[in-house]
Order: sequence, then structure tokens, then C-alpha cells
Amino acid sequence: MHINPALKHYIESQIFPKYDKYYSHGILHINNVIQNCLMLAESYNLDPNMSYVMASYHDVGLDIGRDNHEYTSGQVLINDQNLKQFFSSEQLNIMKEAIEDHRGSRKEPPRNFYGKILSDSDRDFDITVLAKRQLATSIKNYPEYHTFPQHFERCYQYIMNRLNQDGNFNLWTNHPILIKRRTEFQSHYLDKPYTESIYKQEWDHIIAANLLDKIKNYYEDY
Ligand SMILES: [Fe+2]
Ligand SMILES: [Fe+2]
Repeated sequence: MHINPALKHYIESQIFPKYDKYYSHGILHINNVIQNCLMLAESYNLDPNMSYVMASYHDVGLDIGRDNHEYTSGQVLINDQNLKQFFSSEQLNIMKEAIEDHRGSRKEPPRNFYGKILSDSDRDFDITVLAKRQLATSIKNYPEYHTFPQHFERCYQYIMNRLNQDGNFNLWTNHPILIKRRTEFQSHYLDKPYTESIYKQEWDHIIAANLLDKIKNYYEDY
């Protein structure tokens, strides 16, 4: 989909570098969310520039802390004077609300449809990606845990608590491509020994690459 080149240049040069000091929410994650958002925007005839921008800002406030990072990120967007040359205040407000409503733990539906596509785009229906992101988040937020079994059990329970009444990980849009990804993901994830083995590989990598202290003390995302 076509993105305004001046807008793209601004985001790539001024916003993406903010993710350099983020580990589990680094630019790889942001790019995944952007790709998903643009795919959904095309499907549902939404504004590609708005979809691109809200995805680019959605986790930028994670250096303040994990709790309420959706509001901090929304504030970064709404206080960014440069965006006013590209969007109306109504568009900016829709993107701010979408960012504020993006978290997967949210029980009520996002207030607008951009929030639904952003939240669905933020799902990691890939165990390897999830293992990398979740273990790092756990290491950063639970310094009282020291062993792999402690972190794995916490991560696994956290994800299992996300299952809705139908036994599925929630999606707001039910887009067929996401449903397909979710079905494949769930069939593997619910096999706990298999999932544990993938998380263990990631844990071993963190230890071998000496990333434990770096995740705790160097990277700034929670
Ligand atoms: Fe987030
Ligand atoms: Fe995210």
C-alpha cells in the first residue's frame, strides 16, 4: 500500500530509532505490526498512512514501564507536532485511541476499528517470536525469578489466561488470515512440552549470549 514518502521518511528517521534500545519490542516487532496493519487496512479499506503511523508509535512509551504504556505511547503520538502536517486532529485522535486500546489483555473491544486492527496486528502467532519477546519481558519485570522453570511457568500461565470462553486467543476482527495463523499457533502452543522446548532454546540463547544483564540493565523496554 502507498505511504506518503515524506511521512515515511519522518517516521523512519525520527521514530524508528527510539526502538533501538528496546529488546522485546525492537524494530523487528514494530515492522511485524506494521506489515499486519497494512494487510488489514487493505482488506478493510482503511487509511494506509494512519495504519502505518499508529503501528509505528504503539509501543514507543515502553521505557516508562509496562503498565499504562498504551497511554504513554498515545501521548507521544498526540504531542508530536510534526504529525499535524499530515493528519487532521480527528485522525490523530482516532490513532491515539487505537494505541490506547491495543493491549491484548483488554477485555472490552477497542473504541474504534483502527484499534481493533492494531490490537490484532500485535498478536504473536509464532512461538519462537513469542518466546523471545515474553522471556525478555519476564526477565525485565520479574527480577525475583532466576530460573528457566520460574520464567516459563509464568509466561505460559500468562498466555493461557488469555484464552477466551471459546478456548481461543481473542481476535477483534476475525480476519481469515489471522484466524488461520491462530489455529496453527494454538495447535502447537497447547502442547506444553513442545512449547517449553522452544522457550528453553531461547533461554539457552539468552544465557549463552550473555544477554541476561543486558536485558535487565541496558535495554529500556519493559
Ligand atoms: Fe504494547
Ligand atoms: Fe506491540
